Amino acid sequence: MPQIIRDPSFDSTLDLLREGYPFLYSRSQRFDSDIFQIRLMGMKAICLHGAEAAELFYDPKKFIRTGAIPRRVQTTLMGLHAIQTRDNGEHRCRKEMFMSLMTPGSRHRLMGLLAEQWEAYSRKWEHQDRVVLFEEAQEILTRAACAWANVPLQEEEVSLRARQFGKMIDGFGGVGLRHGRSKLARINNERWMRGIIRDIRSGKLPVQEGTAAHTVAWHREPDGKLFDVQMAAIELINAIRPIVAIATYITFAALALHEFPPYRQQLRNPHEDYAELFVQEVRRYFPFTPFVGAIVREDFTWHGFEFPKGTMVLLDVYGTDRDERQWEDPEVFWPERFRHWNENPYNFIPQGGGEYLTGHRCAGEWITIEAMKQAVGFLNDGITYDVPPQDLNYDLARMPTLPRSGFVMTNVRRTG
Ligand code: HEM
Repeated sequence: MPQIIRDPSFDSTLDLLREGYPFLYSRSQRFDSDIFQIRLMGMKAICLHGAEAAELFYDPKKFIRTGAIPRRVQTTLMGLHAIQTRDNGEHRCRKEMFMSLMTPGSRHRLMGLLAEQWEAYSRKWEHQDRVVLFEEAQEILTRAACAWANVPLQEEEVSLRARQFGKMIDGFGGVGLRHGRSKLARINNERWMRGIIRDIRSGKLPVQEGTAAHTVAWHREPDGKLFDVQMAAIELINAIRPIVAIATYITFAALALHEFPPYRQQLRNPHEDYAELFVQEVRRYFPFTPFVGAIVREDFTWHGFEFPKGTMVLLDVYGTDRDERQWEDPEVFWPERFRHWNENPYNFIPQGGGEYLTGHRCAGEWITIEAMKQAVGFLNDGITYDVPPQDLNYDLARMPTLPRSGFVMTNVRRTG
């Protein structure tokens, strides 16, 4: 029976915090193996890298999620006991709820709301000395996502809610103060959303059928019961907060347009959907999700390696998207590579892999791609702007990361 290679370090928690995104990838390269073992927070964890290992990881018969996501991530990023941590029938039932919000009509409505916001914000930008794209995109996405979800948002609370969603996302890899801020943002945001759920259920707040607010407030679990108010608040936030997270990819897309200007012309080619290739490459090239975790459901072996029941398993998302066996020159930004991508659900996994309904693959992947394409089109053709000197570096040791300046634009002018 082959042995899984062990990282010699007694515990790798500090190394993970120090190294960030490349932590798993650099070890799989160092050990020249798609599988190796580390200790994280005192616990043994089997680490997997690459498409073949991703296919294993996304087999729901082999893994569960209950117990896989640390409490500190649940109390900041996604909320306690949210869909990301559920299994079997309970997961399937919630996933159907989320996927029911992703119909073409529903997505089209969100894109319309987003287009209105880009227009309105660009009008405002024409009168500003400088614009920090990341912060503005968070507000644009918050406004559109709340309108789409049918969650009322007062004008004076837009900035507050946008920052709260932003801090929840920003907290997932944070310790100390950053973690504390993120937790507080979630506590306050959940309180607000519990009020919304109560108002919907009491009839005080009328909401339209088919919207996220209506769907989540009246969703029934497999036992036929409504969510308790807290759980409904968490899942409704789970339909809105990740839309706000697209601000990170939009900021990276702006960086890509700035750093690789020849693509600006390619994006105008009427004979090809180049924006699709471009945003796919943004999702591959720039770091967002470092890895995902699961727990072994029952003992099994894979290529002779033993996976004992209850063991923590981590899948290297960052490294799988730059695996040289799949991606030629992975450190080069090259959208054309997606012309020949085989659409395999395991070799390109920026938002998870495998199946949508039966697995944990991100429910919002289509929305993310569409919102990014729209934003890229707007930045390329809807406005002109200057990019003044600023610190556009992003730190791979920080999770999540972002160009340090948030992407500052000056002299913004609308073209239309
Ligand atoms: C799950 C990333 C946008 C809703 C996930 C997962 C990742 C991810 C890595 C977990 C995959 C796994 O556990 O195996 C992202 C990124 C986004 C994004 C990077 C873009 C910034 C969205 C959007 C929505 C959304 C726009 C919906 C409006 C969800 C939901 C899950 C999920 C509901 C849980 C799926 C499940 O556990 O079955 N996302 N996501 N995400 N995402 Fe996203």
